[in-house]
Amino acid sequence: MAKKLWGGRFGKKTDPLVEKFTRSIQYDYKLAEYDLLGSIAHVQVLRKSRYLTPSEAKTLTKGLEAILSSVKKGTFKPDHACEDIHTDIQNKLASRAGALAMKLHTARSRNDQVVFAVKLYSKAALKTLIGDISKLSAVISALAAKNKNIIMPGFTHMQHAQPVYLKKYLGAYLEMLKRDAERLKHVSENIKPTLGAGALAGTPISAKFYAGYATSNSLDAVSDRDFVLDILGALSITGMHLSRLAEDLIIWATKEFGFVEIDEAFCTGSSLMPQKKNADFLELVRGYTGRLYGNLMSVLATMKGLPLTYNRDMQLDKEPLFSSFEIVSAELKIFQGLVKSLEFNKERIAAQLKDEALYATDLLYYLVRKGEPFASAHAIVGKIVKYSLDNGVLIKNMTQDQLKKFSSKIKKGEIKKLFDPKVSVESKKSVKR
Ligand code: ARG
Repeated sequence: MAKKLWGGRFGKKTDPLVEKFTRSIQYDYKLAEYDLLGSIAHVQVLRKSRYLTPSEAKTLTKGLEAILSSVKKGTFKPDHACEDIHTDIQNKLASRAGALAMKLHTARSRNDQVVFAVKLYSKAALKTLIGDISKLSAVISALAAKNKNIIMPGFTHMQHAQPVYLKKYLGAYLEMLKRDAERLKHVSENIKPTLGAGALAGTPISAKFYAGYATSNSLDAVSDRDFVLDILGALSITGMHLSRLAEDLIIWATKEFGFVEIDEAFCTGSSLMPQKKNADFLELVRGYTGRLYGNLMSVLATMKGLPLTYNRDMQLDKEPLFSSFEIVSAELKIFQGLVKSLEFNKERIAAQLKDEALYATDLLYYLVRKGEPFASAHAIVGKIVKYSLDNGVLIKNMTQDQLKKFSSKIKKGEIKKLFDPKVSVESKKSVKR
């Protein structure tokens, strides 16, 4: 069994099942880089406060930096017999720096250490994720520009509503991603890594030696996981947005819609039905949204009613946090390729635009412009639509006599041009362009 960071007061060995149950190295090894950065900063605090001589600080820093470079090179091998990554790194330092390594843990606790490492990890992961969001946004913008002339039916309640530009539809996702990036940036700016809380009460080292990392309340510093919840909440919202994009594409790729073709590279087949080309990636994007919400709920439930300060329960914040970062980051990356390869079927989309229902609102506005009050114009057009459906006659083919029965204000010659997608979308002027 690997050497522990504690044990002096224990006369017995830990029950092997308890040892296994309480261990976190199998996932917190991901914090190695950030735990090392925390230790390197801590060595400086110890040097400035004269708990370490300059030469001791140098030796420890060199040892920590060597371990850090093994992490960066990918040659770092976590020792799975250790309780956690903090213990593992301490032991690895001991094998490089010998007895001097015993001084590293001066005025420090893992309670403090772990939250510092998770905060650094989170800031780095958020930065990467925000970069991935902007890459996906660039791909969506390019797709919108490439298809800038396509007009499609817009939907409410999944029913034909009014024509809209495809670029505007895609633009709605750009707005969501923009908010996501802002939200994540804000979350990151709010994360303040601190040192010097010790186990909970603070340490004998003056706050001035902790430089920018000094904490204003050491109890809160070791027991706060709000930042984890902020991240999980923000990632849940991003995942929800991606699931809506996924769902739109799933629907558009059905044979019934046929609006878009999803590249084979992003689909899978059926082991039984040879013809199948299924958009499983998109379905999993939908599915994983449940996992993202679950991760948030899991940490919220873990934190509920926990007495101050640190409790071991809080160790369970890491798997949900890592999981949500991994899910959203993979989705953002895969979506880039998928979106780039999307091919829209202009003819299939145009065929849907023949549905006169899409222009009923334009006819309503026409009557309003002619002086008809909005509410009565709404009723008139409703009756015209019903007449058209009941008698199988298109509104644009109705005679002046037929139209006159609904309103004396309608001029057949004038309304003909309303049933045109371009005229319809261009008549919407309320939106800044
Ligand atoms: N691995 C723990 C965590 O992730 C830190 C260890 C603190 N353990 C302790 N017994 N105080 O929260």
